[in-house]
Amino acid sequence: MESNQLLSVAEEFGCPLYVYDAEKIQSQYNRLTNAFSKVEKLRINYAVKALSNLSVLKLLKKMGSGLDTVSIQEVQLGLRAGFSPDRIIYTPNGVSMDEIEEVAALGVQINIDNLSILEQFGAKHPQIPVCIRINPHVMAGGNSNISVGHIDSKFGISIHQLPHILRIVENTKMHINGIHMHTGSDILDIEVFLYAAEILFDTAKHFKELDFIDFGSGFKVPYKKGDIETNVEEMGKKLTKRFLAFEKEYGRELTLAFEPGKFLVSESGYFLAKVNVVKQTTSTVFAGIDSGFNHLIRPMLYGSEHYIENISHPKGKERFYSVVGYICETDTFATNRRITEIKEGDILSFRNAGAYCFTMASNYNSRFKPAEVLWMDGKAHLIRQRETMEDILRNQIEIEI
Ligand SMILES: Cc1ncc(COP(=O)(O)O)c(C=O)c1O
Repeated sequence: MESNQLLSVAEEFGCPLYVYDAEKIQSQYNRLTNAFSKVEKLRINYAVKALSNLSVLKLLKKMGSGLDTVSIQEVQLGLRAGFSPDRIIYTPNGVSMDEIEEVAALGVQINIDNLSILEQFGAKHPQIPVCIRINPHVMAGGNSNISVGHIDSKFGISIHQLPHILRIVENTKMHINGIHMHTGSDILDIEVFLYAAEILFDTAKHFKELDFIDFGSGFKVPYKKGDIETNVEEMGKKLTKRFLAFEKEYGRELTLAFEPGKFLVSESGYFLAKVNVVKQTTSTVFAGIDSGFNHLIRPMLYGSEHYIENISHPKGKERFYSVVGYICETDTFATNRRITEIKEGDILSFRNAGAYCFTMASNYNSRFKPAEVLWMDGKAHLIRQRETMEDILRNQIEIEI
């Protein structure tokens, strides 16, 4: 989106504000489906955790996407957005058997990632088809917090435990209809991904009734100009070739599934915040904004670097700033960042604010969560109101003290 469009949206709805560009989501969706256009049965299951606003889910549904969910609440949001249960896959980690059964009863595809639940579920519901999340033990992902396929990770069932999986399947007579992996976010090296895919193909041969193979996600998106990103087109070519060959070998038509979050929505999002104060110290110039890690935690959580622009004065002289929030702890969005000269009252725009930003927001310091706007067909649509004191108080119970 252009700076002037973002500014007008900020003026209309106030700051801090999340703005999502529907056209960017569509173009990313098309890019992925085009990269795999030779695969007869391709299924994109958008990872709801990245951005779970109902209107965004409805937009993805219109594009033809399914959903990848990790909690029963995400499943319920998906159903509310109009997805049919068979378009939703549920990939939880460490949740109770009760929750898994509740989701299964809704008709949603279950993906199991530990032997204990696999055994319990198979014994009780052998007729319900289940997908298995394999941990291929491949170190992939941009940061240790988002690398989830390595040997020490809590996710998935170890590939070395395949004999145990097969024994459970044999004993319970359960129906395994899919196998899955998700090795981590921000994967730079396609070869590592393809190597993990080979492990999945090898595993797949042990199950005779598969309908799909789910390669998870982890596509890296650029955060600034010239940044490295996953070459989706090259991956499309290489994985398609390998997948089609495997399908022949397997002797049955299979669906190729992905579950991207970041790839679909990260670049569509802008986080807009107003500068409350410009503070010069002996060593630094701080720009303090009307927000903090309560609204955008990724820089503090795992060092993500969101590109920041001063959209009020995009053509000014560049200076170096540390951009900080108002939280009563270290609350740094960026250090020593080159930004056009900032004046108090200016609006800063943070890029790549579509994925894992609003969904990770909290009420820390008893602040309201921001409003959300979807920019679609050249118009701004408010898709979530800014919270009020009512929301902060909603579930509190005051007792006589
Ligand atoms: C199981 C699973 N699938 C998909 C995703 C989406 O990953 P990304 O946002 O990198 O596309 C995640 C992210 O944590 C995940 O855990």
